[in-house]
Amino acid sequence: MDFLTLFAIYVAVVLACMVLIYKYSGQQQTPFNTLFNCLLKVFAPFTPKWLQRFLQWVLHRLFHQRSNIFVYLHILLEIAVCAEFTYEVFGFCREMGTTVTSLSVPYILLAIKTLFFYLCIKRDPGTVTKKKIAGQLQIYPYDNRLFHPEVSCPTCQLIKPARSKHCRVCNRCVLRFDHHCIWMNNCIGAQNTRYFLLYLFTMCAMAGDIALLTGDMLLHAVLQSGLLRASYIDEYGQQQQAGPLFVVQHLFLTFPRIVFMLGFVVFVFFLLAGYALFHSYLALINMTSNEWYKVRGHVCQHCHTTAPANHLYSPAPDHSKRSHYSRGLLRNLGEIFFPPQSKKKHN
Ligand SMILES: *[C@@H]1O[C@H](CO)[C@@H](O)[C@H](O)[C@H]1NC(C)=O
Ligand SMILES: [Zn+2]
Ligand SMILES: [Zn+2]
Repeated sequence: MDFLTLFAIYVAVVLACMVLIYKYSGQQQTPFNTLFNCLLKVFAPFTPKWLQRFLQWVLHRLFHQRSNIFVYLHILLEIAVCAEFTYEVFGFCREMGTTVTSLSVPYILLAIKTLFFYLCIKRDPGTVTKKKIAGQLQIYPYDNRLFHPEVSCPTCQLIKPARSKHCRVCNRCVLRFDHHCIWMNNCIGAQNTRYFLLYLFTMCAMAGDIALLTGDMLLHAVLQSGLLRASYIDEYGQQQQAGPLFVVQHLFLTFPRIVFMLGFVVFVFFLLAGYALFHSYLALINMTSNEWYKVRGHVCQHCHTTAPANHLYSPAPDHSKRSHYSRGLLRNLGEIFFPPQSKKKHN
């Protein structure tokens, strides 16, 4: 396979991953959705009706109904990266003299990460139920800004506790609702936000560590090959110094799978790092992403529309109150790791 084909495949894979992982944000309306709908409209005259209906069905099945597809995809990608690391990078690194201890760090992180992944998936995020609602209503007071008392969920037919939201994918109301995560096939709520955060951090650490080890290995390979000092004769018969592009091409051709994996892992690392930072910030200021988007989008609890700011706030919007509920960083974190239980509350 020549370099350009390989590179085109690589770019396509990275872009596909970007689109998929973008859904990670868990928002109902993403630029991806908008783009897809635009594409559907543009291509509608050229595609048969059954194909359109099929695509819409696939989309609905993937993003608006509970399904384990993304959980499996996630595990599959992970197996691919770990297998590649084990079968190619590990051996090279051993030859280079990297210690077994530092080479085993990714596996340890993998084990920890898998545990958090499992806990996050299996843990009930805090479903509002008829039996528990009396206690659940006590946990947070209504602020009369984003959450108003005596609003009930039309689907569950239960009063909505403050900070809860109805998840349309899971069809239930969830306490301290953050978002619905398709990669977990679960909502992120009061009881599993901590596992979600820990998962993000260990995942980042693992991706970063694999990227560092692999990058180190490739660097050694380049230095060993003496490619940096090499030169070649170009099509005009001139002697040219081998530049960085030449080195990249050489690496692509010599270790295609490793370079693919490195690109993917670096990409995942930056994406997840941004995501982890955003979620840590929210945790530190005692806010859920649901509330964050509500404050920013001024979505009214009563009419569920994007209303002008003065509709939501009375008398006027106050942007300095974004961390209105913060009781100090440590307390906020404490609430994530030891979510308040309804039983303990007795006032
Ligand atoms: C977090 O905010 C809620 C209101 O949304 C408040 O009731 C709660 O006491 C706050 N918790 C902490 C630890 O600040
Ligand atoms: Zn509901
Ligand atoms: Zn959900």
